[in-house]
Amino acid sequence: MIYISPSMLSCDFSKIGDEALAMENAGADMLHLDIMDGHFVPNITFGAPVIKKLRPVSKAVFDTHLMISEPLKYVEDFSKAGSDIISFHIESDSPVEETIDKIKSFGIKAGLAVKPKTPIEEVYPYLDKLDMVLIMTVEPGFGGQSFMEDMIPKIVALKEKCKEKGRDDMLIQVDGGISVKTVDKAAASGANVLVAGSALFSQKDYKKAVEDLREKAYSSLK
Ligand code: DX5
Ligand code: ZN
Repeated sequence: MIYISPSMLSCDFSKIGDEALAMENAGADMLHLDIMDGHFVPNITFGAPVIKKLRPVSKAVFDTHLMISEPLKYVEDFSKAGSDIISFHIESDSPVEETIDKIKSFGIKAGLAVKPKTPIEEVYPYLDKLDMVLIMTVEPGFGGQSFMEDMIPKIVALKEKCKEKGRDDMLIQVDGGISVKTVDKAAASGANVLVAGSALFSQKDYKKAVEDLREKAYSSLK
């Protein structure tokens, strides 16, 4: 099963509700919500109040990606705002296990994210507790960057490790530079949650954009 998660970072923020609904109606499985604090990454986006307002608009899975220095402090806010999955960075200042436990205490899925320079082996001790691992395929902070092909071995290694541990259910998310030109490599390597911002929102026909991406991903599995 492949899931498509459009990154709202590339939407028209003057009509974020309409954009979310349009992507959901276009067949997106999730909506990827990028939270940046201007400290963990050199950019600022939006906070939990925006997610709270979006929640009644869309039934899609809210896939919240915290790019913030102290995720543990804000897990409650983002969970209560309506997140279905919360991912945070292993490179953040919060204790990893405690933050995972806090996310799970709200009955939602927990994801652990790794920046490009972080070895994938660093997430292995937490795999038993995790629902998702997010492999950044660009440096976090901005949409519209190029896919880093040298991240492919990390996806392959993680997939292998999950298999070894009997965790075929693990969500393996790739985020950054995903488009019809790059998605096949990511999916063939084992990624099953595909985040795409600029590649989807730059298209006029969202339905076609989501379908094309999904089709390209599936075709790489054959
Ligand atoms: C980058 C964000 C990504 C970003 C992806 O820090 O985490 O989710 O929006 O954008 P594209 O798909 O344009 O690379
Ligand atoms: Zn993201």
